Amino acid sequence: MANVLIVNGSLGGSTGNTAELLALAEERLQGEVEVSHLELCREPTLDRMLAAIEKADGFLFGSGTYWDSWGSPMQRFLEMTAHTEGQSIWVGKPACAIVTCHAVGGKGVLTRLLGVMNVYGVLLPPFAGFSYTYVADTALPHASDHLKNELWTADDTDVVCHNLLEAMRGGRNWKQWPTNEGRYGEKWLYAYSAKYGLSPDAGSTVP
Ligand SMILES: Cc1cc2nc3c(=O)[nH]c(=O)nc-3n(C[C@H](O)[C@H](O)[C@H](O)COP(=O)(O)O)c2cc1C
Repeated sequence: MANVLIVNGSLGGSTGNTAELLALAEERLQGEVEVSHLELCREPTLDRMLAAIEKADGFLFGSGTYWDSWGSPMQRFLEMTAHTEGQSIWVGKPACAIVTCHAVGGKGVLTRLLGVMNVYGVLLPPFAGFSYTYVADTALPHASDHLKNELWTADDTDVVCHNLLEAMRGGRNWKQWPTNEGRYGEKWLYAYSAKYGLSPDAGSTVP
């Protein structure tokens, strides 16, 4: 059975926020692949890291966002494994990532983390990751369909896991999360209009 290595680089580790989404991912992956773990905040040795990476056929990375960056356990992991960049333990193996944050910075962390791993040699499937915010978690129950489609949700874990497995199988039957395809330029901000009681259609040009 193929093996997926879940690499949690969060400060919160197995009891943190990111671990919640990684647990959903593990549930989704179970039965289709064997799942292994690297809990980076427990400071695994380099030998343990390399053995787990070598055994893996695919990777799912996770981290919170700490002052616009990934966690120090993830940074330690990247520094300790940097010399393996481009080696066969990585090259061509599919990788995805899930990042959490309160409000701002998670998407940047996601993009940079996937970018670094791609330079290590991993293969990035379509829709290879998402960032989930505390703000979205709070807003989603109240959001319009339009806004819901703009926000990543915990359900997108399924898309990421599906595409990770599909890439590992060498297939092309990708899943995609909901979008607002074809709908752009929606007016949603009425700060000035509301302040002066203007009709939403009146425009907000200062008289
Ligand atoms: C030191 C520190 C810095 C943080 N910086 C940010 C940040 O820049 N942007 C943000 O939206 N959330 C920030 N957060 C919130 C965390 O990203 C968020 O709670 C995340 O889910 C933590 O993941 P974890 O529980 O898996 O460690 C920060 C949290 C801590 C403890």
